[in-house]
Amino acid sequence: MVQFNGPFGKVGPTYFRHGVRNPPAEPSKDFGGKTVVITGCNTGVGYEAALKIAGLRPKKLILGTRTIAKGEATKTKILAQCPSLDKSVIEVLSIEYASFDSVVQFAESVKQSTQTLDCVLLSAGVAMPSYKPSEGGWEMALKVNVLSAALLAIELLPLLKNTPSSVLEFVGSVGHTHVTSEHVAPLIQDPSASTLAFFNSPDRWTVEKSYCEAKLLLMFVLEGLVESLGGSEGELAQPQDPVLLACCPGQCKTDLGRDFPLTIRLFMKVWNSIMARSADVGSRTLVTGLQQGEQANGRIWVNDAFDIRSPGLTETEWRAMQKRVWGEAVDVLKKYKPDLAI
Ligand SMILES: NC(=O)c1ccc[n+]([C@@H]2O[C@H](COP(=O)([O-])OP(=O)(O)OC[C@H]3O[C@@H](n4cnc5c(N)ncnc54)[C@H](OP(=O)(O)O)[C@@H]3O)[C@@H](O)[C@H]2O)c1
Repeated sequence: MVQFNGPFGKVGPTYFRHGVRNPPAEPSKDFGGKTVVITGCNTGVGYEAALKIAGLRPKKLILGTRTIAKGEATKTKILAQCPSLDKSVIEVLSIEYASFDSVVQFAESVKQSTQTLDCVLLSAGVAMPSYKPSEGGWEMALKVNVLSAALLAIELLPLLKNTPSSVLEFVGSVGHTHVTSEHVAPLIQDPSASTLAFFNSPDRWTVEKSYCEAKLLLMFVLEGLVESLGGSEGELAQPQDPVLLACCPGQCKTDLGRDFPLTIRLFMKVWNSIMARSADVGSRTLVTGLQQGEQANGRIWVNDAFDIRSPGLTETEWRAMQKRVWGEAVDVLKKYKPDLAI
Protein backbone atom coordinates (compact mmCIF):
# COMPACT_ATOMS: atom_id res chain seq x y z
CA MET A 1 0.00 0.00 0.00
CA VAL A 2 2.57 2.42 -1.17
CA GLN A 3 2.40 4.84 -4.09
CA PHE A 4 3.84 3.65 -7.39
CA ASN A 5 3.64 6.95 -9.24
CA GLY A 6 5.49 9.07 -6.68
CA PRO A 7 9.12 10.20 -6.89
CA PHE A 8 11.68 7.38 -6.70
CA GLY A 9 12.14 6.61 -3.05
CA LYS A 10 15.80 5.86 -2.31
CA VAL A 11 16.94 8.22 0.42
CA GLY A 12 20.35 9.87 0.77
CA PRO A 13 22.15 12.82 2.37
CA THR A 14 19.79 15.48 0.97
CA TYR A 15 16.81 13.64 2.42
CA PHE A 16 18.51 13.19 5.80
CA ARG A 17 19.57 16.86 6.02
CA HIS A 18 16.04 17.93 5.13
CA GLY A 19 14.84 15.70 7.97
CA VAL A 20 17.21 17.35 10.44
CA ARG A 21 16.16 20.86 9.38
CA ASN A 22 12.45 20.00 9.40
CA PRO A 23 11.58 18.19 12.61
CA PRO A 24 8.18 16.53 12.87
CA ALA A 25 5.55 18.10 15.13
CA GLU A 26 5.63 17.41 18.86
CA PRO A 27 2.65 15.23 19.87
CA SER A 28 0.15 16.98 22.12
CA LYS A 29 -3.07 14.95 21.91
CA ASP A 30 -3.41 12.93 25.08
CA PHE A 31 -3.77 9.19 25.62
CA GLY A 32 -6.29 9.66 28.43
CA GLY A 33 -8.03 6.39 29.33
CA LYS A 34 -5.95 4.39 26.85
CA THR A 35 -3.91 1.25 27.38
CA VAL A 36 -0.69 1.29 25.39
CA VAL A 37 1.88 -1.45 24.71
CA ILE A 38 5.38 -0.50 23.56
CA THR A 39 8.23 -2.84 22.66
CA GLY A 40 11.81 -1.68 22.20
CA CYS A 41 11.16 0.74 25.05
CA ASN A 42 14.58 0.81 26.72
CA THR A 43 16.54 2.89 24.24
CA GLY A 44 16.28 5.00 21.12
CA VAL A 45 13.01 6.13 19.62
CA GLY A 46 11.04 3.48 21.55
CA TYR A 47 12.20 4.88 24.88
CA GLU A 48 11.50 8.48 23.87
CA ALA A 49 8.04 7.50 22.59
CA ALA A 50 7.29 5.69 25.87
CA LEU A 51 8.35 8.81 27.78
CA LYS A 52 6.14 11.07 25.67
CA ILE A 53 3.13 8.77 25.99
CA ALA A 54 3.67 8.50 29.76
CA GLY A 55 3.41 12.30 29.87
CA LEU A 56 0.15 12.24 27.88
CA ARG A 57 -1.90 10.54 30.64
CA PRO A 58 -2.39 6.91 29.51
CA LYS A 59 -4.53 4.65 31.69
CA LYS A 60 -1.91 1.93 31.43
CA LEU A 61 1.50 1.71 29.77
CA ILE A 62 2.93 -1.78 29.22
CA LEU A 63 6.64 -1.85 28.47
CA GLY A 64 7.91 -4.88 26.56
CA THR A 65 11.57 -5.46 27.41
CA ARG A 66 14.12 -8.21 26.89
CA THR A 67 15.18 -8.19 30.53
CA ILE A 68 12.91 -7.18 33.39
CA ALA A 69 15.82 -5.40 35.12
CA LYS A 70 16.32 -3.14 32.09
CA GLY A 71 12.57 -2.54 31.81
CA GLU A 72 12.31 -1.65 35.50
CA ALA A 73 15.20 0.80 35.05
CA THR A 74 13.29 2.35 32.13
CA LYS A 75 10.15 2.57 34.29
CA THR A 76 12.13 4.34 37.03
CA LYS A 77 13.57 6.79 34.50
CA ILE A 78 10.13 7.56 33.08
CA LEU A 79 8.58 8.01 36.54
CA ALA A 80 11.39 10.41 37.48
CA GLN A 81 10.53 12.53 34.41
CA CYS A 82 6.76 12.28 34.95
CA PRO A 83 6.40 12.82 38.71
CA SER A 84 2.61 13.13 38.59
CA LEU A 85 2.26 9.66 37.03
CA ASP A 86 1.12 6.92 39.41
CA LYS A 87 3.73 4.17 39.31
CA SER A 88 1.00 1.51 38.95
CA VAL A 89 0.26 2.90 35.45
CA ILE A 90 3.48 1.36 34.09
CA GLU A 91 3.85 -2.38 33.88
CA VAL A 92 6.98 -4.17 32.72
CA LEU A 93 6.70 -7.47 30.82
CA SER A 94 9.43 -9.48 29.21
CA ILE A 95 9.72 -10.18 25.49
CA GLU A 96 12.61 -11.59 23.47
CA TYR A 97 11.86 -11.25 19.75
CA ALA A 98 14.52 -13.84 18.90
CA SER A 99 12.21 -16.47 20.39
CA PHE A 100 8.66 -17.16 19.13
CA ASP A 101 7.88 -18.76 22.53
CA SER A 102 8.76 -15.50 24.27
CA VAL A 103 6.67 -13.45 21.82
CA VAL A 104 3.61 -15.64 22.40
CA GLN A 105 4.17 -15.59 26.17
CA PHE A 106 4.37 -11.78 26.09
CA ALA A 107 1.07 -11.59 24.20
CA GLU A 108 -0.50 -13.93 26.79
CA SER A 109 0.80 -11.74 29.63
CA VAL A 110 -0.67 -8.66 27.95
CA LYS A 111 -4.04 -10.43 27.64
CA GLN A 112 -3.90 -11.34 31.34
CA SER A 113 -3.00 -7.80 32.27
CA THR A 114 -5.73 -5.95 30.35
CA GLN A 115 -9.18 -6.55 28.85
CA THR A 116 -8.75 -3.71 26.35
CA LEU A 117 -5.83 -2.58 24.24
CA ASP A 118 -5.94 0.79 22.51
CA CYS A 119 -2.44 1.25 21.10
CA VAL A 120 0.40 -1.09 20.23
CA LEU A 121 3.72 0.41 19.20
CA LEU A 122 6.21 -2.19 17.96
CA SER A 123 9.55 -0.41 18.06
CA ALA A 124 11.89 -3.32 18.88
CA GLY A 125 14.30 -3.80 15.99
CA VAL A 126 17.87 -4.62 15.09
CA ALA A 127 20.50 -3.72 12.51
CA MET A 128 22.93 -6.61 12.19
CA PRO A 129 26.65 -6.17 11.43
CA SER A 130 26.98 -9.76 10.20
CA TYR A 131 24.86 -12.79 9.37
CA LYS A 132 23.61 -14.30 12.62
CA PRO A 133 21.15 -17.17 12.65
CA SER A 134 18.55 -17.21 15.42
CA GLU A 135 16.51 -20.04 16.90
CA GLY A 136 14.74 -21.85 14.04
CA GLY A 137 17.49 -20.90 11.55
CA TRP A 138 16.13 -17.45 10.69
CA GLU A 139 18.66 -14.69 10.23
CA MET A 140 18.33 -12.36 13.22
CA ALA A 141 17.00 -9.24 11.43
CA LEU A 142 14.48 -11.37 9.52
CA LYS A 143 13.34 -12.98 12.76
CA VAL A 144 13.22 -9.86 14.94
CA ASN A 145 12.18 -7.17 12.45
CA VAL A 146 9.70 -9.27 10.48
CA LEU A 147 8.58 -12.71 11.70
CA SER A 148 8.33 -11.95 15.42
CA ALA A 149 6.77 -8.55 14.75
CA ALA A 150 4.15 -10.30 12.59
CA LEU A 151 3.56 -13.00 15.21
CA LEU A 152 3.09 -10.43 17.97
CA ALA A 153 0.71 -8.36 15.87
CA ILE A 154 -1.39 -11.44 15.04
CA GLU A 155 -1.46 -12.52 18.69
CA LEU A 156 -2.62 -9.09 19.84
CA LEU A 157 -5.24 -8.61 17.10
CA PRO A 158 -8.14 -10.18 19.07
CA LEU A 159 -7.61 -7.76 21.95
CA LEU A 160 -7.31 -4.84 19.54
CA LYS A 161 -10.49 -5.92 17.73
CA ASN A 162 -12.33 -5.86 21.07
CA THR A 163 -11.27 -2.28 21.68
CA PRO A 164 -12.95 0.49 19.64
CA SER A 165 -10.61 2.89 17.79
CA SER A 166 -7.54 0.78 18.49
CA VAL A 167 -4.30 1.00 16.53
CA LEU A 168 -1.16 -1.05 15.93
CA GLU A 169 1.94 0.61 14.51
CA PHE A 170 5.10 -1.08 13.25
CA VAL A 171 8.27 0.95 13.29
CA GLY A 172 9.47 0.45 9.76
CA SER A 173 11.89 2.45 7.66
CA VAL A 174 11.82 4.33 4.38
CA GLY A 175 14.97 2.25 3.78
CA HIS A 176 12.55 -0.36 2.38
CA THR A 177 12.63 1.66 -0.86
CA HIS A 178 16.32 0.73 -1.29
CA VAL A 179 15.37 -2.81 -2.31
CA THR A 180 15.26 -2.76 -6.10
CA SER A 181 13.90 -4.91 -8.91
CA GLU A 182 17.47 -6.07 -9.53
CA HIS A 183 17.77 -7.37 -5.95
CA VAL A 184 14.66 -9.53 -6.24
CA ALA A 185 15.11 -10.52 -9.91
CA PRO A 186 15.86 -14.21 -9.08
CA LEU A 187 12.54 -14.40 -7.22
CA ILE A 188 10.59 -12.69 -9.99
CA GLN A 189 12.12 -15.07 -12.53
CA ASP A 190 11.22 -18.11 -10.42
CA PRO A 191 7.69 -17.78 -9.02
CA SER A 192 8.00 -21.15 -7.28
CA ALA A 193 11.09 -20.17 -5.27
CA SER A 194 10.73 -19.58 -1.53
CA THR A 195 11.02 -15.85 -0.90
CA LEU A 196 11.86 -16.29 2.78
CA ALA A 197 14.59 -18.82 2.00
CA PHE A 198 16.02 -16.29 -0.50
CA PHE A 199 16.05 -13.42 2.03
CA ASN A 200 17.39 -15.78 4.70
CA SER A 201 20.33 -16.92 2.60
CA PRO A 202 23.81 -16.22 4.08
CA ASP A 203 25.30 -16.24 0.55
CA ARG A 204 23.67 -13.00 -0.56
CA TRP A 205 23.63 -11.30 2.86
CA THR A 206 25.02 -7.76 3.19
CA VAL A 207 24.58 -5.20 5.97
CA GLU A 208 22.38 -2.89 3.89
CA LYS A 209 20.33 -5.66 2.29
CA SER A 210 19.66 -7.29 5.66
CA TYR A 211 18.14 -4.13 7.15
CA CYS A 212 16.35 -2.74 4.09
CA GLU A 213 14.94 -6.09 2.98
CA ALA A 214 13.61 -6.77 6.47
CA LYS A 215 11.86 -3.39 6.43
CA LEU A 216 10.41 -4.18 2.97
CA LEU A 217 9.15 -7.52 4.25
CA LEU A 218 7.59 -5.69 7.21
CA MET A 219 5.63 -3.54 4.73
CA PHE A 220 4.42 -6.76 3.08
CA VAL A 221 3.35 -8.07 6.49
CA LEU A 222 1.47 -4.83 7.16
CA GLU A 223 -0.36 -5.16 3.86
CA GLY A 224 -1.15 -8.82 4.55
CA LEU A 225 -2.61 -7.98 7.95
CA VAL A 226 -4.68 -5.11 6.57
CA GLU A 227 -6.08 -7.37 3.84
CA SER A 228 -6.76 -10.16 6.36
CA LEU A 229 -9.15 -7.74 8.07
CA GLY A 230 -10.74 -6.81 4.73
CA GLY A 231 -9.33 -3.29 4.94
CA SER A 232 -7.46 -1.23 2.36
CA GLU A 233 -5.31 1.87 2.20
CA GLY A 234 -6.94 4.55 4.36
CA GLU A 235 -10.04 2.42 4.97
CA LEU A 236 -11.23 -0.09 7.53
CA ALA A 237 -13.66 -2.86 6.58
CA GLN A 238 -15.61 -2.37 9.83
CA PRO A 239 -15.58 0.79 11.95
CA GLN A 240 -14.51 -1.22 15.03
CA ASP A 241 -11.44 -2.75 13.30
CA PRO A 242 -8.00 -1.69 14.48
CA VAL A 243 -6.02 0.72 12.33
CA LEU A 244 -2.75 -0.91 11.21
CA LEU A 245 0.11 1.25 10.00
CA ALA A 246 3.87 1.61 9.83
CA CYS A 247 5.97 4.66 10.58
CA CYS A 248 9.56 5.77 10.04
CA PRO A 249 11.26 8.12 12.50
CA GLY A 250 13.87 9.25 9.93
CA GLN A 251 17.60 8.90 10.51
CA CYS A 252 18.06 9.11 14.31
CA LYS A 253 20.89 9.02 16.86
CA THR A 254 20.10 5.80 18.73
CA ASP A 255 21.71 2.53 19.81
CA LEU A 256 20.73 0.77 16.60
CA GLY A 257 24.39 0.30 15.61
CA ARG A 258 25.34 -1.15 18.99
CA ASP A 259 26.55 -4.49 17.57
CA PHE A 260 28.81 -2.95 14.92
CA PRO A 261 32.61 -2.72 15.32
CA LEU A 262 33.90 0.39 17.11
CA THR A 263 35.31 1.95 13.91
CA ILE A 264 31.91 1.76 12.19
CA ARG A 265 30.18 3.11 15.30
CA LEU A 266 32.59 6.06 15.38
CA PHE A 267 31.97 6.72 11.70
CA MET A 268 28.19 6.52 12.27
CA LYS A 269 28.52 8.94 15.20
CA VAL A 270 30.17 11.53 12.97
CA TRP A 271 27.74 10.86 10.10
CA ASN A 272 24.75 11.07 12.46
CA SER A 273 25.99 14.35 13.97
CA ILE A 274 25.22 15.89 10.56
CA MET A 275 22.57 13.62 9.09
CA ALA A 276 20.45 12.44 12.01
CA ARG A 277 17.85 13.73 14.42
CA SER A 278 17.86 13.05 18.12
CA ALA A 279 15.86 10.01 19.21
CA ASP A 280 13.56 12.45 21.01
CA VAL A 281 12.68 14.26 17.76
CA GLY A 282 12.40 11.00 15.79
CA SER A 283 10.06 9.49 18.38
CA ARG A 284 7.48 12.22 17.71
CA THR A 285 6.57 10.37 14.52
CA LEU A 286 5.96 7.12 16.44
CA VAL A 287 3.59 8.88 18.83
CA THR A 288 1.65 11.00 16.33
CA GLY A 289 1.34 7.97 14.03
CA LEU A 290 -0.77 6.29 16.70
CA GLN A 291 -3.22 9.19 16.55
CA GLN A 292 -3.94 9.45 12.80
CA GLY A 293 -7.12 7.33 12.79
CA GLU A 294 -8.56 5.43 9.83
CA GLN A 295 -6.73 7.44 7.15
CA ALA A 296 -3.50 5.80 8.36
CA ASN A 297 -4.62 2.26 7.64
CA GLY A 298 -2.01 0.37 5.59
CA ARG A 299 0.19 3.42 5.19
CA ILE A 300 3.61 4.53 6.41
CA TRP A 301 3.69 7.74 8.48
CA VAL A 302 6.84 9.80 7.95
CA ASN A 303 7.60 13.44 8.79
CA ASP A 304 3.97 14.36 9.60
CA ALA A 305 2.65 12.87 6.35
CA PHE A 306 1.94 9.54 4.70
CA ASP A 307 4.90 8.67 2.53
CA ILE A 308 4.25 9.03 -1.18
CA ARG A 309 7.64 8.04 -2.54
CA SER A 310 7.76 4.95 -4.74
CA PRO A 311 9.54 1.76 -3.78
CA GLY A 312 12.43 0.32 -5.77
CA LEU A 313 10.11 -2.41 -7.12
CA THR A 314 7.52 -2.00 -9.86
CA GLU A 315 3.88 -2.30 -8.87
CA THR A 316 3.64 -5.75 -10.51
CA GLU A 317 6.72 -6.97 -8.66
CA TRP A 318 5.48 -5.52 -5.38
CA ARG A 319 2.07 -7.20 -5.67
CA ALA A 320 3.58 -10.58 -6.55
CA MET A 321 6.25 -10.40 -3.84
CA GLN A 322 3.81 -9.21 -1.18
CA LYS A 323 1.48 -12.18 -1.73
CA ARG A 324 4.32 -14.67 -1.67
CA VAL A 325 6.10 -13.21 1.37
CA TRP A 326 2.90 -12.84 3.39
CA GLY A 327 1.73 -16.35 2.47
CA GLU A 328 5.08 -17.85 3.45
CA ALA A 329 5.29 -15.83 6.68
CA VAL A 330 1.84 -17.09 7.69
CA ASP A 331 2.92 -20.65 6.86
CA VAL A 332 6.04 -20.31 9.02
CA LEU A 333 4.04 -18.89 11.92
CA LYS A 334 1.29 -21.50 11.58
CA LYS A 335 3.87 -24.26 11.51
CA TYR A 336 5.12 -22.89 14.81
CA LYS A 337 1.60 -22.32 16.21
CA PRO A 338 -1.04 -24.30 14.29
CA ASP A 339 -3.99 -22.57 16.00
CA LEU A 340 -2.76 -19.09 15.08
CA ALA A 341 -5.83 -16.99 14.32
CA ILE A 342 -5.01 -15.60 10.89
N1 LIG B 1 17.68 4.91 14.30
C1 LIG B 1 17.26 5.13 13.07
O1 LIG B 1 17.85 5.93 12.32
C2 LIG B 1 16.04 4.42 12.57
C3 LIG B 1 15.51 4.80 11.33
C4 LIG B 1 14.37 4.15 10.85
C5 LIG B 1 13.79 3.15 11.61
N2 LIG B 1 14.34 2.79 12.81
C6 LIG B 1 13.69 1.71 13.56
O2 LIG B 1 13.32 2.19 14.84
C7 LIG B 1 13.18 1.08 15.73
C8 LIG B 1 13.89 1.39 17.03
O3 LIG B 1 15.27 1.46 16.78
P1 LIG B 1 16.23 2.53 17.43
O4 LIG B 1 16.87 3.26 16.32
O5 LIG B 1 15.55 3.27 18.50
O6 LIG B 1 17.36 1.55 18.00
P2 LIG B 1 17.74 1.09 19.48
O7 LIG B 1 18.09 2.25 20.32
O8 LIG B 1 18.77 0.02 19.30
O9 LIG B 1 16.40 0.44 20.02
C9 LIG B 1 16.01 -0.85 19.66
C10 LIG B 1 15.17 -1.44 20.75
O10 LIG B 1 14.78 -2.75 20.32
C11 LIG B 1 14.98 -3.65 21.37
N3 LIG B 1 15.37 -4.96 20.86
C12 LIG B 1 16.42 -5.26 20.05
N4 LIG B 1 16.47 -6.59 19.84
C13 LIG B 1 15.43 -7.13 20.52
C14 LIG B 1 14.97 -8.45 20.71
N5 LIG B 1 15.60 -9.49 20.15
N6 LIG B 1 13.89 -8.66 21.50
C15 LIG B 1 13.27 -7.62 22.08
N7 LIG B 1 13.65 -6.33 21.94
C16 LIG B 1 14.73 -6.11 21.18
C17 LIG B 1 16.12 -3.09 22.20
O11 LIG B 1 15.99 -3.58 23.52
P3 LIG B 1 17.24 -3.70 24.53
O12 LIG B 1 17.70 -2.31 24.77
O13 LIG B 1 16.66 -4.34 25.73
O14 LIG B 1 18.26 -4.54 23.83
C18 LIG B 1 15.90 -1.60 22.08
O15 LIG B 1 15.07 -1.15 23.12
C19 LIG B 1 13.76 -0.12 15.00
O16 LIG B 1 12.71 -0.91 14.50
C20 LIG B 1 14.55 0.51 13.86
O17 LIG B 1 14.68 -0.35 12.77
C21 LIG B 1 15.42 3.41 13.31
